[in-house]
Amino acid sequence: MKAVIFDLDGVITDTAEYHYLAWKSLADELNLPFDKEFNEKLKGVSRMESLELILSLGDTAYSDEEKKALAEKKNDLYKEMIAKVTPADLLPGIEALLKELQEAGIGTALASASKNAPFILDRLGVTHYFNHVVDVNLIKQGKPDPEIFLTGAAKLGVLPEECVGIEDAEAGIESILSAGMYAVGVGTPAQMQKADLIVSSTAELSLSLLKENFKQKTK
Ligand code: BG6
Ligand code: MG
Repeated sequence: MKAVIFDLDGVITDTAEYHYLAWKSLADELNLPFDKEFNEKLKGVSRMESLELILSLGDTAYSDEEKKALAEKKNDLYKEMIAKVTPADLLPGIEALLKELQEAGIGTALASASKNAPFILDRLGVTHYFNHVVDVNLIKQGKPDPEIFLTGAAKLGVLPEECVGIEDAEAGIESILSAGMYAVGVGTPAQMQKADLIVSSTAELSLSLLKENFKQKTK
């Protein structure tokens, strides 16, 4: 195991909840029946793709310009929420794991679909733990495509099969697995069915747990 590549929302901090609340507010305004169960489909999915999924709950057609304005509205609300993020919002066990990885010389990268990711890492005070933050603006295919995790590995100069990926979304687990990496899922066994290792909380994550369970994938 030479590197660990992290998702952000729902793994490092619970911004997944803020994404939900911001989309919920927009969906309520548009009278769309959006709920927590449907929200699972949006995890790891880009802003515009998430909007398309939400709009598919109704039958109103929107122009590209209207869609852009709706996505911006959601993002403005989301940005208000993340402006209040502090280091206290790190999920349990995450900073300890980042420290352990740094001390052990194991590479770390962030593979988040969020354009707000660098801002959130700064607010959390953990930017310095990452050897690389993948620039999602340069990624052509969103999760479940492996591109974002493969880019993280390439930037760290390691092979995909030497990497562990940590995710809380189904699309993210698929992205890790199709990259040929070892997939750790944070969530319930039902949500994280395909993951190689499942933890119910980030508090369970540690360098020793990852090392004990890591198995190199054969191509
Ligand atoms: C992912 C989240 O990390 O980022 C998704 O899981 C979100 O819910 C996506 O839609 C894009 O985020 P942003 O901040 O660019 O709108
Ligand atoms: Mg996530």
